[in-house]
Amino acid sequence: MEVEVQLGDSIEAGEVLEIYRANDWSSADKPDQLLAALRSSHSLVTARFQGRLIGIANAISDAHLVVCYPHMLVHPDFQRRGIGAALMKKLQTRYHGFHQQILLADGDAVGFYEYLGFSRAGKTVPMWIYQGTEH
Ligand SMILES: CC(C)(COP(=O)(O)OP(=O)(O)OC[C@H]1O[C@@H](n2cnc3c(N)ncnc32)[C@H](O)[C@@H]1OP(=O)(O)O)[C@@H](O)C(=O)NCCC(=O)NCCS
Repeated sequence: MEVEVQLGDSIEAGEVLEIYRANDWSSADKPDQLLAALRSSHSLVTARFQGRLIGIANAISDAHLVVCYPHMLVHPDFQRRGIGAALMKKLQTRYHGFHQQILLADGDAVGFYEYLGFSRAGKTVPMWIYQGTEH
């Protein structure tokens, strides 16, 4: 399966919402903000198979020391085929070696991030003000 993984791709609302809804992510309920957020990210990476959007991830960063990876989704029909790992690898072409690369891992995604070299963040506790309902 030939998948194209690309930084700085342009995205359309319909294809993005399809992936977010397929994974039950509540940000799909705020399509205008979601599209604006993805397009305003420090980096946006997409995975496409025959033109179809099947994976997406983004990064926000100060460009020097710290990067945060807020979103990482692969369409359920295409999971466990190395696409998530390829998305992160592409992002890390920009952020490899940064002092801090941080993210919030969903319980089900912990194994995935451990595979990518992430580990629990010492004695820190994740904290947030959050308007979603999942997690
Ligand atoms: C998490 C997610 C992005 C992983 O993407 P993916 O394309 O399925 O992952 P990959 O195929 O690249 O996985 C690479 C390796 O990570 C590990 N891995 C992936 N998913 C895993 C899981 N659910 N549990 C344990 N390990 C996992 C495996 O070692 C895997 O290699 P293998 O398939 O050869 O065993 C995808 O499952 C997804 O979109 N989930 C829903 C949204 C989500 O939870 N995103 C993360 C938010 S924090």
